Amino acid sequence: MLRVRGSDRIESERAMSSTESGTTSHRVLIVYYTYTQQALKVAEAMAETFRGRGCDVSLAKIELTDKRWADRFTRFPLKHAYGDVLGMFPAQLRGATGEIHIPEAARAEDYDLVCIGSPTWFFKPSVPIRSYLKSVEAGKVLDGTHFAIYVVCRRYWSINMKAVRKLATKRGGTFVGDLHFVYAGKQVRSFLAMMNNFKYGENREKYLGVKIPPTNLQVGYHEQAGAFADRLVDGLENKSAGDV
Ligand SMILES: Cc1cc2nc3c(=O)[nH]c(=O)nc-3n(C[C@H](O)[C@H](O)[C@H](O)COP(=O)(O)O)c2cc1C
Repeated sequence: MLRVRGSDRIESERAMSSTESGTTSHRVLIVYYTYTQQALKVAEAMAETFRGRGCDVSLAKIELTDKRWADRFTRFPLKHAYGDVLGMFPAQLRGATGEIHIPEAARAEDYDLVCIGSPTWFFKPSVPIRSYLKSVEAGKVLDGTHFAIYVVCRRYWSINMKAVRKLATKRGGTFVGDLHFVYAGKQVRSFLAMMNNFKYGENREKYLGVKIPPTNLQVGYHEQAGAFADRLVDGLENKSAGDV
C-alpha cells in the first residue's frame, strides 16, 4: 500500500486514477527538474498516458534552492543570458551538488516505476538532479525499484543519460528504459535559438542577424513521450504477469 505524504492535488489525482481503472494500479513517480518547462511538458505527456493506462501517477519537481545559484533561475527570461548560463559552468564541471527542495512525493518509498527527467547542463545532469540522485531520499525511492530516464537538451544527451543511469543504479534502482529530446537545428543555429530564448523569452526569426529555428521541444514530442510511457507500462504488466 502506497503511503505518500504528498499534497492534496497529488492525493486527489491518485484517487481519481484508481477509481477510473477499477483495479490496483501501478504506482509511478515522475521526478524532474525544469527551468524552461521542457522537462515538465514531457512529464505531463507521459503522465497522461500513464493515467490512461490506469496508473497512479505522482509528479515531483525538484527545486534548486541553493543560494549560490538559485536566484538566476527565479525569472524567465534570464537577466544576463550568457553570464547566468556560464556561471553554472564551474559547478557543472566539478559535478557539484547543492541545496534543493524535494517534494513529498519524491520521498515516498514504494513506487513500481520512477521516471527521472533530466535537462542537460554542460553535457551533464543539472546540479538539482545530481543533488537529488545523491540524496538520502532518492536512495529510499530508488532502492529495489525500476527506473527510466528521459533527457531534454539542446543537443547533448548521452553523457547526461549515462550519468543519471549510473547514479540511479548506485542507489539500488534497476534501469528499464530511456528517451531523449533534442532541439531543432544544427550546432550553431540551435545554440543561437536557445540563447535567444534565454535572453528574450520567445522564439524569433533571427538572432544576431542569423536565421534561427524554433527552440525547445520539437513537434511530435507529445506522441514520443506517450509511446515511451506506453512501453514502460507494457514492461510493468509483463513483469506483473511473470510474477504470478
Ligand atoms: C546552465 C545551462 C547549461 C546548458 N548546457 C547544455 C549543454 O551542455 N548541452 C545541451 O545540449 N543543452 C544545454 N542546455 C540546454 C538545456 O538542456 C535545455 O534548455 C533543456 O531543455 C532544459 O530543460 P528545462 O526546459 O526542463 O529546464 C543548457 C541549459 C542551461 C540552462
